[in-house]
Amino acid sequence: MAIPRETVEQILQAARIEEVVGEFVTLKKRGSNLWGNCPFHNEKTPSFSVNPARNIFKCFGCGKAGDSAKFLMEHEHFTYPEALRYLAKKYNIKIEEKQQTAEEIMQQSIREKMFNINEFADKYFVDTLWNTEEGKTIGLEYFRERGYFDPIIEKFHLGYNPDSAHWDAFTEHAKKNGYSEELLEQIGLSIKGSKGLYDRYHGRVMFPIHSLTGRVIGFGGRILVNDKKSPKYQNSPESEIYDKKQTLYGIYFAKNAIARQDECILVEGYFDVLRMHQIGIENVVASSGTSLTMEQIRLVKRYTKNITMLYDGDAAGVHAALRGTDMILSEGMNVRVVVLPPEHDPDTFGKEFSVDYVSNYLKENAKDFIRFKTELLLKDAENDPIKRGQVIRDIVETISVIPDSIFRITYVKECSRLLDMPEQTLTNELNKILRAKLKKSLGVEGEAIPEPETTTPKQEETVEDQLPAGYYQERDLVRLLLMFGKEMITEERLDENEEKVYEQVSVAQLIIDELKMDGIVFTNVVNKKIFDIFDKALDEGYIPDDQVFTSNEDETIAQLAADLLFSPYKLDQWNKYSIYVTQEENNLRATVLSSLYRYKDLIIEERRKAVEEELKNTTDAADQMILLKQKKELDDIRKQINKELGIVIAK
Ligand code: GTP
Ligand code: MN
Repeated sequence: MAIPRETVEQILQAARIEEVVGEFVTLKKRGSNLWGNCPFHNEKTPSFSVNPARNIFKCFGCGKAGDSAKFLMEHEHFTYPEALRYLAKKYNIKIEEKQQTAEEIMQQSIREKMFNINEFADKYFVDTLWNTEEGKTIGLEYFRERGYFDPIIEKFHLGYNPDSAHWDAFTEHAKKNGYSEELLEQIGLSIKGSKGLYDRYHGRVMFPIHSLTGRVIGFGGRILVNDKKSPKYQNSPESEIYDKKQTLYGIYFAKNAIARQDECILVEGYFDVLRMHQIGIENVVASSGTSLTMEQIRLVKRYTKNITMLYDGDAAGVHAALRGTDMILSEGMNVRVVVLPPEHDPDTFGKEFSVDYVSNYLKENAKDFIRFKTELLLKDAENDPIKRGQVIRDIVETISVIPDSIFRITYVKECSRLLDMPEQTLTNELNKILRAKLKKSLGVEGEAIPEPETTTPKQEETVEDQLPAGYYQERDLVRLLLMFGKEMITEERLDENEEKVYEQVSVAQLIIDELKMDGIVFTNVVNKKIFDIFDKALDEGYIPDDQVFTSNEDETIAQLAADLLFSPYKLDQWNKYSIYVTQEENNLRATVLSSLYRYKDLIIEERRKAVEEELKNTTDAADQMILLKQKKELDDIRKQINKELGIVIAK
């Protein structure tokens, strides 16, 4: 049910950022922008800004930025299509759903059928639990015996699948109601045996697994007898509607509490979720015994950045806590760990103690993950120096995945204390890892990159502070492209009779042409993507709108565009690198040309250095001649550039 591309554009164009944001944030006009208190972090003085002309928002406190759809995704936890549908409704735009192909209709109807049969099964299991002799005496009794009260059993739609002689009570009931054997097998409610289909979950209590929107996408069933041959839990196989790596048990019931409390508690089992809910702690989901996936983490991240992992007190539980955690940290989320007393899991713990005791225990025992890991590994390594070395590398590796440099530095300090190691040793180790990563991500293999970390961070230091100066020049050109791409400036050039003529040219055309003429390609991946979009559009005879970038489906482009389009407010940053944004609109030609020339100068300088290096390494006279000539040419170009730069600045 995709929304056609034209409609998406129409919606995003109609959406006025100040109106969309205005429903949630009180905005006041100041200058050409509107300002308010940021809804994404706590603040008393407004640093959240809305730019109606560019149709984007940006918070100068927490850095969130983007278009109307992005705002709704962040604020309302909508998915992208949900945000578009919200905007379409607000602006009375009709969404003509794309004509579906025969295959899509088939696919759609398979999914619908699967949801239907799951709903049918869910009703049957619940009905059996409450209204049949077997269900009541075996299933319901089991839940009550474990200390569960009726409201929780009802809320989570717990059920029971009977244990009939042929193990086919449910399968037969479903067939009688018109569900095909094929579907029953596909969705995994039934299994094909030598004597026909039988119930996958016969004799088990049932846990329906709900999607984010509350539809039943699968089941888990717990065995009630001691049987070494059968697994304790049987789960649905994956299907068109059930993707295990995207699912968290309990998310439908927990999502509001997670957002409200700005924290998600992660447990392992179905019963752990039930118990916590029963005692009134509702921001809880379960990974269901498997290790955490990136998709599950992103699902949580829609509601909060804070995860608390609550694990069994035994060794297995403790080591389970170590798995998957680097993934959470790399998403910029905060992870804490609570380990229960050795004999407990969250279910038994919640059964034995009062709500207050449990809440207090959680509060007092929640340990920051890195601290937890360091202490745990240290205990394992104790007096073994080789193991200790491994521990240090292991911890530093974990610290290195944290995106925020301030946090990294804080952790280095703390770990230096815990490990009884000089801070500098850890910082050096960390820098080694970070440099390797930075190089890889910038795609500038071999280029020298300055020390990314210092132990005494300046205020508001960002990753950008740690990059080479050429990076800023490149980014400044991208900024000018985005901000002024459509503006026209007057250029002098000599015609075929060597006479001066004046020409109107767009800023975008000028920048792209000048760079292409010298065969210069942006080194940063996102900059390059933006360059390519301009290049392609100019070839086709138009200049792309802001919206192409600020609403780009590539999030790295959208984020950078929103950031750069607000950049006049980042004066300090840019001034440091002699890039002047004051009144640049009044002197656009000079701004654009000086930015271009500065950038080119840098690139040519690099090429010249490379030639010099080669000269040093060659003894062949002919080669030397060629290189010297190249060097001279590059010197001339530099002189020319600097001359023009001088003229531009003097004007
Ligand atoms: P109880 O023993 O009923 O309290 O369940 P539990 O939730 O404490 O079980 P446990 O800690 O052993 O396992 C945690 C979670 O792992 C369960 O809730 C299941 O989701 C999953 N799990 C446990 N045993 C099995 C199994 O045999 N097969 C599968 N597929 N999953 C299991
Ligand atoms: Mn248990």
